[in-house]
Amino acid sequence: MQRSPLYTILFATAVCVVCAVVVSSAAVSLKERQDINSALEKQRNVLIAAGLLGDEEKVSPEEIENRFATIRSVVVDLETGEEAPDIDPRTFDQKKESTDPATSRVAPTNPALVKRVPNHALVYLVQGEGGDIDMIILPVEGYGLWSTLYGFIALDADLDTVRGITFYDHKETPGLGGEVDNPGWKAKWDGRKVFGEDGSPEIEVIKGIAGPPAEDPYRVDGLSGATLTARGVTNLVHFWLGENGFGPLLEKLQSREERRAA
Ligand SMILES: Cc1cc2nc3c(=O)[nH]c(=O)nc-3n(C[C@H](O)[C@H](O)[C@H](O)COP(=O)(O)O)c2cc1C
Repeated sequence: MQRSPLYTILFATAVCVVCAVVVSSAAVSLKERQDINSALEKQRNVLIAAGLLGDEEKVSPEEIENRFATIRSVVVDLETGEEAPDIDPRTFDQKKESTDPATSRVAPTNPALVKRVPNHALVYLVQGEGGDIDMIILPVEGYGLWSTLYGFIALDADLDTVRGITFYDHKETPGLGGEVDNPGWKAKWDGRKVFGEDGSPEIEVIKGIAGPPAEDPYRVDGLSGATLTARGVTNLVHFWLGENGFGPLLEKLQSREERRAA
């Protein structure tokens, strides 16, 4: 049976409208669940960076929440390194703050290609009974080869020794730059030192194999066939642990811990 062109156009339009309604209702109704899952994934990665959850460990969402509850989330002012007690860590959105010119500043040109630095950042503290810092977990991000890598780096109580690193979002090539997710490679960071004698970040992902941390503290094994992603990781760690990132916070905590110890 021959249909008129008008019938065909109306039929195609009706199909498009129905599909658009189905897709957008699914997106809206699943938004809450997606937000919960992405918050859970971040918590999982904070725990992995801190060594409080194994990379391959399968645990329930409740168990992730239980373990995460032992960690204190704190919003800090990046310029002063002071805590921002009036900002609720549970609702603070660092990505949003970074993109809003009213709550962020333009970053100086940097190889990690970080464009803006938020006024505040959400950091995580593992504390001992007396309130001493056992570990601090800091969010880091920066450009690899194809994408921005988002992750966390955990530093020991000395605020210099790496306890762990992990990335929860990137689009580097699986098997090449994607090897940043390889538990074996991530384990190579444990025990390395970040800061050189002049106090600036010196740690570097090299091309090739580094020695053990005690003998070769500032170098981490390269990623075979993925030197550009590896360089990106070095750059982003340098940026966020440097003066334009968490430098002021780390200095403040260092002097506080020294005063406590004295
Ligand atoms: C399809 C394709 C995907 C690639 N993905 C990555 C990547 O994710 N990260 C990376 O550093 N290099 C990637 N490379 C390789 C880079 O172009 C470059 O050759 C490499 O980083 C150099 O590292 P090497 O000196 O260790 O060989 C890719 C290359 C191709 C052809």
